[in-house]
Amino acid sequence: MLHSTSLAWLALATASHAQFDIEHTQYGTSPPVYPSPNITGDGGWAAALEKAKAFVAQLKLDEKAFMITGSDGPCVGNIAPIARLNFSGLCLQDGPLAIRQAVLTSVFPAGITAAASWDRELVKQRGVQLAEEFKGKGSHIALGPVVGPLGREPFGGRNWEGFSPDAYLSGVLVEETILGMQSAGVQACTKHYIGNEQEIQRNPSTVNGTLVDSISANIDDKTMHETYLWPFANAVKAGTASLMCSYNRLNGSYGCQNSKTLNGLLKDELGFQGYVMSDWMATHSGVAAIEAGLDMNMPGGIGFSGGAPASLWGGNVSVAVNNGSLAIERVDDMIHRIMTPYYHLGQDLNFPVVDESTVPLSFFSRANWKYNYTLGPMVDVRAEHAKLIRELGAAGTVLLKNVNNTLPLKKPKNIGVFGNDAADFTNGQYTLSISSGLASGDYDIGTLAAGGGSGTGRFTYVVPPLDAIKARGQSYGALIQYVTDNSAVAVGGLSSLSPTPLDACIVFLKSWASEGDDRTTLIAEWNSTVVVEAVASTCANTIVVLHGASPNVLPWKDNANVTAILAAHFPGQETGNSIVDVLWGDVNPSGKLPYTIANNETDYDLKIVNSTELLESTNPNAWQDDFKEGNLIDYKEFDAANKSVAYEFGFGLSYTTFELSDLQIQAAVSKPSRIPSSSAKIVPGGNEELWQTLVTVCASIKNTGAVEGAAVPQLYVSFPAEAGEKTVRSLRGFDKIFLAAGEVSTVEFPLMRRDLSYWDVATQNWRLPSEPITVDVGFSSRDLKLNGKLTV
Ligand SMILES: *[C@@H]1O[C@H](CO)[C@@H](O)[C@H](O)[C@H]1NC(C)=O
Ligand SMILES: *[C@@H]1O[C@H](CO)[C@@H](O)[C@H](O)[C@H]1NC(C)=O
Ligand SMILES: *[C@@H]1O[C@H](CO)[C@@H](O)[C@H](O)[C@H]1NC(C)=O
Ligand SMILES: *[C@@H]1O[C@H](CO)[C@@H](O)[C@H](O)[C@H]1NC(C)=O
Ligand SMILES: *[C@@H]1O[C@H](CO)[C@@H](O)[C@H](O)[C@H]1NC(C)=O
Ligand SMILES: *[C@@H]1O[C@H](CO)[C@@H](O)[C@H](O)[C@H]1NC(C)=O
Ligand SMILES: *[C@@H]1O[C@H](CO)[C@@H](O)[C@H](O)[C@H]1NC(C)=O
Ligand SMILES: *[C@@H]1O[C@H](CO)[C@@H](O)[C@H](O)[C@H]1NC(C)=O
Ligand SMILES: *[C@@H]1O[C@H](CO)[C@@H](O)[C@H](O)[C@H]1NC(C)=O
Ligand SMILES: *[C@@H]1O[C@H](CO)[C@@H](O)[C@H](O)[C@H]1NC(C)=O
Ligand SMILES: *[C@@H]1O[C@H](CO)[C@@H](O)[C@H](O)[C@H]1NC(C)=O
Ligand SMILES: *[C@@H]1O[C@H](CO)[C@@H](O)[C@H](O)[C@H]1NC(C)=O
Repeated sequence: MLHSTSLAWLALATASHAQFDIEHTQYGTSPPVYPSPNITGDGGWAAALEKAKAFVAQLKLDEKAFMITGSDGPCVGNIAPIARLNFSGLCLQDGPLAIRQAVLTSVFPAGITAAASWDRELVKQRGVQLAEEFKGKGSHIALGPVVGPLGREPFGGRNWEGFSPDAYLSGVLVEETILGMQSAGVQACTKHYIGNEQEIQRNPSTVNGTLVDSISANIDDKTMHETYLWPFANAVKAGTASLMCSYNRLNGSYGCQNSKTLNGLLKDELGFQGYVMSDWMATHSGVAAIEAGLDMNMPGGIGFSGGAPASLWGGNVSVAVNNGSLAIERVDDMIHRIMTPYYHLGQDLNFPVVDESTVPLSFFSRANWKYNYTLGPMVDVRAEHAKLIRELGAAGTVLLKNVNNTLPLKKPKNIGVFGNDAADFTNGQYTLSISSGLASGDYDIGTLAAGGGSGTGRFTYVVPPLDAIKARGQSYGALIQYVTDNSAVAVGGLSSLSPTPLDACIVFLKSWASEGDDRTTLIAEWNSTVVVEAVASTCANTIVVLHGASPNVLPWKDNANVTAILAAHFPGQETGNSIVDVLWGDVNPSGKLPYTIANNETDYDLKIVNSTELLESTNPNAWQDDFKEGNLIDYKEFDAANKSVAYEFGFGLSYTTFELSDLQIQAAVSKPSRIPSSSAKIVPGGNEELWQTLVTVCASIKNTGAVEGAAVPQLYVSFPAEAGEKTVRSLRGFDKIFLAAGEVSTVEFPLMRRDLSYWDVATQNWRLPSEPITVDVGFSSRDLKLNGKLTV
């Protein structure tokens, strides 16, 4: 979603610019797929669909037009109430780590932290508790979770909102999140569909008076299925109520009017039963977008001038139906899709109202509201959520280096705390935009616990790392010495410390990232290298904690005085407590990297499209992004090139050690057909046979160390040549297993048909290879001690 400070381009963005530059033919055009499929109620929604049909049957045409077009109101997106039918409307609110437009709410760990925990149960609970807060604040639809961007490009400004550049890991975690959220009665809106892998030129721009279209993500069919569509299939399987289509174009056609991605891939192939809503102002046409599969236009019109919003939809839908250019059946299907999840989740029964404290934070001016909304008093919805936030913040912290077991700390008496990320906020509690608040450009001293843009949250408090360390150290009489001004550290500020040497020096660094722009560096900002080197030059036990966007590169990682490194991501409001729990060993770290840390940022194949020349071009079709690397992103890129990395995907240390042994491979189905049966049902998520377990792989796991802790055994598959690609291996299973010292357990990896198939472009189907598939099980993508082969 777009935040209100970046609306400048909109004035000119009303026309459709879906034409394709004939000079740019490598990826062809987007094939037409019509008509838009109707909802069937499959996947357990039949009873709710009947209620939705009964509701739609009572609507007048003008009411229908505003059931699919947003109106002004108290939320960031609003579907208008219909008083005559006792329908109080729908409230849509950001976002993936908090309900943003509200007070007295919690700021949860970001998607990247959730992913680094590799913990299905904690991730599901995060979904439950997030949704409880949305519901308590009267919001029917939460604009999250995020699996697009997937994280193709480490410089991507929004990667942290989602989980991981690995499609399988993202898929598992988005599914758990949605199941959690919807079990608490709130509709999930999985976003951004699809190919939204960079922020630069995600929207059209105006150059010298010429409208220049958004970037076009040109993705071949195989890569689309095996990488970018994969986690969206999990989201549909989990019953996501809605999906948000993205700002970018795909093969030259806008994401919110692309009939191949909306009608074809999503509604036909994946059997999606919910509705597609536009990203804010991503609708570029009326009837064309509707017929291509878009079901809801958000936030509705543009230019709200005291009354009905002027919109390509809204009143124009009524006109188009009346003049015969739009079938009323399609409009009815759109509303069936919108109202079925509403009834399925029981949102027609005693749903809380939006509270008054939200109104001043709204996208819209109350003076322009056309409808009457029932509002309630301010409520505090935080409950006991701080407990899970603290736990997940620690679980999503990855220990990368720990020389001679310097961690956990053993009651050091003289502790140093350094760096601008250690301190409390000094510039407000809200990270919305680059130009205000807690942004890198104007925000130095203060901890970074959530990124910027619409995916941020409004903190009621934060536990700064420094405060949490003071509390912990003072509990046993330690001296805490600190300098949180990076410039001071860099220019000799450490000379005031006494006594020296210190027992442990903890350096907190931060990396900013926000919606609306991509990152310009993977090195933590604010002179981080100078700060680490300055501390390490006087302190032989320097522990570096990284907060914020990732991946980072760590130019100081081999400094002998840097004894420990922790990637602590975006932990949310309990950040200080989460890190102290790990540093002092109350929590044994079990986080694993959900991405790769390279030796140098130039080791990543730069995929962001950006240049001065492009930014100044007046060619409407100048911005093209060919996804030429196919599936080879993140660890798949480094493995295919056989390049060394600093810390590989799946890696993370523990305070104990684990051993795997005794790999066993058991077929659950003998001699399965090569492709799923064409007579099998299409359920939400696709052909139902894709989700059947064909093989189970087991191994024995033992905690061989002295303390309890959790391991994350991982299973990777390597396809034979017939799968037609260069990927060395792909994650296809993981589990988080808690073991007491000396305890032994069994890890089981059920492999579904989809996990063992590749996308066969010629026959447009998932195909099991005939040759054997290699199976590797281990503790990271490059630590794979157990190896086997399976033939399906
Ligand atoms: C984009 O073009 C490629 C190459 O022709 C094709 O494989 C793919 O299916 C197209 N995707 C969309 C969404 O149009
Ligand atoms: C959707 O259902 C309507 C009847 O309600 C029918 O007229 C239309 O043809 C159906 N569309 C499709 C794509 O099946
Ligand atoms: C109107 O809705 C409210 C709650 O939203 C419900 O309590 C009430 O019974 C409904 N009234 C009618 C006439 O349906
Ligand atoms: C845009 O306008 C400026 C000022 O008129 C001019 O100098 C520049 O060449 C123009 N650029 C393009 C790409 O037309
Ligand atoms: C139809 O769309 C145009 C273009 O946005 C707008 O100016 C006009 O007001 C709309 N008409 C109605 C009835 O909403
Ligand atoms: C019907 O109405 C739509 C929406 O206003 C308009 O774009 C279209 O040109 C009209 N078609 C005819 C045939 O009048
Ligand atoms: C809003 O409430 C006022 C006062 O009760 C009423 O006059 C008006 O018709 C209502 N507006 C709508 C759109 O229901
Ligand atoms: C780690 O332990 C080894 C062996 O005792 C010792 O040689 C080395 O200096 C230690 N390193 C640090 C950083 O303390
Ligand atoms: C880096 O430190 C120098 C002082 O050594 C200071 O002048 C400069 O502003 C700092 N830059 C940043 C980005 O903090
Ligand atoms: C490590 O710390 C010691 C002081 O404790 C210092 O003498 C030495 O120069 C430091 N080494 C580096 C590489 O900074
Ligand atoms: C990263 O690579 C670039 C280009 O090869 C080089 O100039 C730079 O020194 C390298 N940085 C590090 C930290 O190795
Ligand atoms: C994009 O390119 C412009 C012009 O070269 C540059 O100023 C800007 O920093 C670049 N943005 C990113 C995120 O690399």
